[in-house]
Amino acid sequence: MGLVIENVSKSFARKEKEITFALSPVNLQVEEGEFLSIVGPSGCGKSTLLRLVAGLIPPTSGRLMLDGQEIEGTDAKRGMAFQKPTLFPWLTVEENIAFGPRMQGKKKPEEIERMLELTHLTKFRKAYPHELSGGMAQRVALVRTMINEPEVFLLDEPLGALDAFTRMQMQDELLLLWKEKKNMMLMVTHDVDEAIYMGTRVIVMAKAGGSILRDISIDLDYPRKRLDSKFLSYREEIMRLLGVDQDEESA
Ligand SMILES: Nc1ncnc2c1ncn2[C@@H]1O[C@H](COP(=O)(O)OP(=O)(O)OP(=O)(O)O)[C@@H](O)[C@H]1O
Ligand SMILES: [Mg+2]
Repeated sequence: MGLVIENVSKSFARKEKEITFALSPVNLQVEEGEFLSIVGPSGCGKSTLLRLVAGLIPPTSGRLMLDGQEIEGTDAKRGMAFQKPTLFPWLTVEENIAFGPRMQGKKKPEEIERMLELTHLTKFRKAYPHELSGGMAQRVALVRTMINEPEVFLLDEPLGALDAFTRMQMQDELLLLWKEKKNMMLMVTHDVDEAIYMGTRVIVMAKAGGSILRDISIDLDYPRKRLDSKFLSYREEIMRLLGVDQDEESA
């Protein structure tokens, strides 16, 4: 059944009847196990869409359903990771990761061990957030959400703050986590390469008050090759939809 988004729009009332249309009616269906990448210009409503699915804000119109149930409010089934890692500064890496399971009365020691290993954090298990590099902190934040085994994992530019090399490494680690858990991923990114490298599908949103401009299935096996001709033709198509001139980009 998966996630069904039906005619969902969102506007924000500002002072004196001033209304911002953050999202025009969107219709979208995402199946279990899909990895949906979301790209679009700044301010088009990508974060708004994720926040609606997270249940952090209610829609102005339409409805959102997960497995046949209307989404109302937040739920551990729908985990979100933000662009800036949000960790508890007074807890170690290990304690940060163990926090969610503990809250649910499950300890999951083996699972924590495996996750630490998978993301190369074992050596830093006793470190505090201020002792970590940006990339490590981001990995901890991702693992911390992933360990709760959310049915839907919402990622808002999770790798945006990382340098290019760490970012590529993290893309592979995130794909490993996804392959293991087989959950549904909804990831917002500004990086078209990243969107294609990771997603089973890429949706391209239109400017301000975004609606979905195009929904593209990425028909490539994993691990993907960024220089593959098919990869590059997806890239060209998406760049064109975003109105990015290829020459301008490389200038
Ligand atoms: N809480 C809010 N109150 C008022 N306006 C809001 C609120 N949240 C978002 N908006 C407006 O809705 C529009 C969409 O915002 P949103 O954050 O979803 O964009 P975005 O696509 O995530 O942009 P970016 O790529 O820059 O992160 C913007 O015009 C923004 O100003
Ligand atoms: Mg945003």
